Amino acid sequence: MSHPRFQDDVIYQVYPRSYQDTDGDGIGDLKGIIKRLPYIEKLGATAIWISPCFRSPMEDMGYDISDYKSVDPIFGTDEDMDLLIEEAGKRGIRIILDMVLNHTSKEHPWFRSARSSLDSPYREFYIFRDKPNDIQATFGGSAWEWNEETKDYYFHLYAPGQPDLNWDSERMREALYDACNYWLDKGVYGFRLDVIENIGKDVDRHILQNGPHLHERLHELNHRTFGRKEESIAIGECWCADTESRMLYTNPEREELSMVFLFNDWGAFHDPKYGKWRCRPFDCRTYRDIIYERQETDPAKSWDTIFWNNHDLPRALNRYGDLRYRKECAKMMFASTLFLRGTPFIYQGDEIGMINGSFHSIEDYRDIEAINHYQILQDMGMSEREAMEALASTARDNARIPMRWNGRKGYGFTSGTPWIDGGKDDPEYNVAREEKDPSSILAFYREAIRVWKDPLYRELVRDGAFEPDYLEKGDWICYTRRIGERRLRVFANFSSRTCEKPDIPGTILLHNYEDISEEFRPYEIYVTTL
Ligand code: NOJ
Repeated sequence: MSHPRFQDDVIYQVYPRSYQDTDGDGIGDLKGIIKRLPYIEKLGATAIWISPCFRSPMEDMGYDISDYKSVDPIFGTDEDMDLLIEEAGKRGIRIILDMVLNHTSKEHPWFRSARSSLDSPYREFYIFRDKPNDIQATFGGSAWEWNEETKDYYFHLYAPGQPDLNWDSERMREALYDACNYWLDKGVYGFRLDVIENIGKDVDRHILQNGPHLHERLHELNHRTFGRKEESIAIGECWCADTESRMLYTNPEREELSMVFLFNDWGAFHDPKYGKWRCRPFDCRTYRDIIYERQETDPAKSWDTIFWNNHDLPRALNRYGDLRYRKECAKMMFASTLFLRGTPFIYQGDEIGMINGSFHSIEDYRDIEAINHYQILQDMGMSEREAMEALASTARDNARIPMRWNGRKGYGFTSGTPWIDGGKDDPEYNVAREEKDPSSILAFYREAIRVWKDPLYRELVRDGAFEPDYLEKGDWICYTRRIGERRLRVFANFSSRTCEKPDIPGTILLHNYEDISEEFRPYEIYVTTL
């Protein structure tokens, strides 16, 4: 059966600010990613998604682009990007850029012109209105900002420094396609498309996601950019999509996106009042129901993404796991979902069991969302202490602390002062230590990816039927992937309780304890074949 290449990809996400600094300014750079290509290759990744590294005032850490066609000097030069694409390519690794097409920075020349005069040819690129309505911005406050020069308001779904683009303007769309094609012509594999579900919005009717022209626009984007190139891909970030709408985005016949990130598993634990800022405890059955439902769709009509972490989420190990069993838990979480149908994404540091940073005062945070919500949460009724606790467990900065390459000062990340610290001394879990330990999380990740890619099991993992097992056990993630009599089975205990061991037939491919026991121990996992 022929299938698109991305179904065999293992994608590693790099948050460039925090990955590897090579010039001592405390901020990671593209040369740093080049330096670490052998590490990424050894892990087994076939593509790297790099969070935005375009020119930007960095109000939202690069998700506010002021020039789509050049690299921000803090990350290096355009030549560094060319070199990265080339060097990665030599290792069979492709580069995926993070394209922010819903909004620009307020410093983008298009917006500077648009806001300066009613006669600007760029007025139609943005959304201006004489009167604001009551839509609230994601980072707090009204989504409308007064523009003194033209005596009206512009719309920003995120920070005031991130004015939304008007996708009804054909000229604006052409300008974005031109930017995408610029990078595709340089040889990038494709794009991760930031909050792409927002581009069809109708602000006058308060429709922000799934707007009237959304799918039509995506189809056009596909045809005019990545869809023109054989094997190029686009992964959409869709916070509000579910299994059903995923089919609209990713059915190949519709020619929209290759894959989308869904977040309904994450959202299932949000508090009714405080949303993500105060989460309900993890419950495996709820989580499992959601991810299993995604497996029920016809793989020819829709494809899933598999991930635990990214730069917007606190670390899943803190959130879902139990740090008393950090090593077992990190391994179990990775392998328990790895063998579901879909393309796996690994966020930098997952492979060494990185956990949340520790931030002692509001001054330690760097993220605009956290800084704004410190006040917003107090206005909503939390005490100062509660607001700090909420940030400590949910802020995005938790996942943005420097990669731990070694246990020394600067973590092997920088010879200078890191742009964000996150302060926790975590000497046990860093790449240098993990490299030396054959039973490390890193060694397990490498082995699990090797199994995932092994031609013996590749077809089974990609195309095999999905059959859930032991559904009556609420804390277990057990399933079979099957083609005829060939089977790959996963048995995971997603709890800190020791239980009666299930019957585990077949040859063990992966296991996260040193020995075999008669019991099913906390966070134990077996992956077997028969
Ligand atoms: C989603 C990105 O992942 C996040 O980091 C950013 O703040 C928003 N989109 C706005 O661009």
